[in-house]
Amino acid sequence: MSRSYAIAVIPGDGIGPEVVREGLRVLERVATIEGFSVRATTYPFGAEHYLKTKEIFPDAAFSEVKGQDAILLGAIGDPRIEVGLLEFGIIAKLRFELDLFVNLRPVKLYAEHLCPLKDKRPEDVDFVVVRENTEDAYAGMRGFFKKGTPDEIATQEILFTRKGVERVIRYAFELARGRPGEKKLTLVDKANAVRAMDLWTRTFEEVARDYPGVKTDHAYIDAACMWMVKNPEWFDVAVTTNLFGDIITDLGAMLIGGMGIAASGNIHPGRVSMFEGIHGSAPKYRGTDKASPLATILALAMLLDHVGEAAAGREVEETVAELIRSGRIRSLKAGDHRCSELGQMVASRLRERSRART
Ligand SMILES: NC(=O)c1ccc[n+]([C@@H]2O[C@H](COP(=O)([O-])OP(=O)(O)OC[C@H]3O[C@@H](n4cnc5c(N)ncnc54)[C@H](O)[C@@H]3O)[C@@H](O)[C@H]2O)c1
Repeated sequence: MSRSYAIAVIPGDGIGPEVVREGLRVLERVATIEGFSVRATTYPFGAEHYLKTKEIFPDAAFSEVKGQDAILLGAIGDPRIEVGLLEFGIIAKLRFELDLFVNLRPVKLYAEHLCPLKDKRPEDVDFVVVRENTEDAYAGMRGFFKKGTPDEIATQEILFTRKGVERVIRYAFELARGRPGEKKLTLVDKANAVRAMDLWTRTFEEVARDYPGVKTDHAYIDAACMWMVKNPEWFDVAVTTNLFGDIITDLGAMLIGGMGIAASGNIHPGRVSMFEGIHGSAPKYRGTDKASPLATILALAMLLDHVGEAAAGREVEETVAELIRSGRIRSLKAGDHRCSELGQMVASRLRERSRART
């Protein structure tokens, strides 16, 4: 029986439509080569749609998206719209309502020249951050009292549940156990100051007993930032809270060449999951053909792995890595290559590699 996948595509705002267009070009090419088909349904949600209709993400469309095999997101966020309105109404809605509790963010360096750290090679920068994706300060328990007055009070709760902490820590242990090499899991928190994170400390220790083959380590978030720059080779898999994971993975992106190459998966194992670059909508590059689509292309590689096309996912990743190592992709700085040029380059190279195999 032929393999076919339904993908919901939300290009979104800013550079989202450009990077998604190139991602889909690569997806179609790899599908043809590997012998499966993709039915992509594009949804218009984002700033333009909101300005025209006042709709953010209607329930009927959400139900449709939920019924697909996977979701590809470009980016959401536009300076014309109230801060956070669309990000919360689209990205957070998908993460929370689909219960995508893992945000998987690989930090993998493909060539030494992309790393701003002195003398760090690809074998030194190859780890994965597992960011909890449904709790913490992002749960939306917040409020303002006496807003706009000199007596104003603003609150936002940091929320962790035993179930939420345990399932993401367990996922990270499974991931560490399955990786080649060291099999080490580092818990990153700030339990010395934010005592609610003691729940993470205790849960980590308990779950660790089920994984005797995985070495464990711990770093406070401030020290983890320092170690990521000083000795990134110390990390294999790191598990952390939603807020800390959001922040340290931008630092991680800079270790591997920048926002243009850092991919992520918002995952609930076995269920419909959502894939995107970790970057936002970079409004200053909107419509300029300057943004890098490689983060989206690598997110698609993760999507393929998730839907059961692991070989196709590996081939996409390996093609990007080869183009970087060979110097054909010279730089990931916005504008050094055109967005469309990079998409075409990856698609052509996929075809050349496939012809060379047959
Ligand atoms: N998941 C998401 O869709 C998401 C994530 C983060 C931020 N946002 C939203 O995006 C908007 C802009 O946020 P921001 O400026 O803080 O972050 P951003 O990631 O959009 O951009 C920061 C900078 O990173 C660089 N950059 C980002 N993507 C790039 C790419 N593909 N190629 C080359 N360079 C790239 C650019 O220099 C850009 O100015 C805001 O509205 C924010 O809320 C959305």
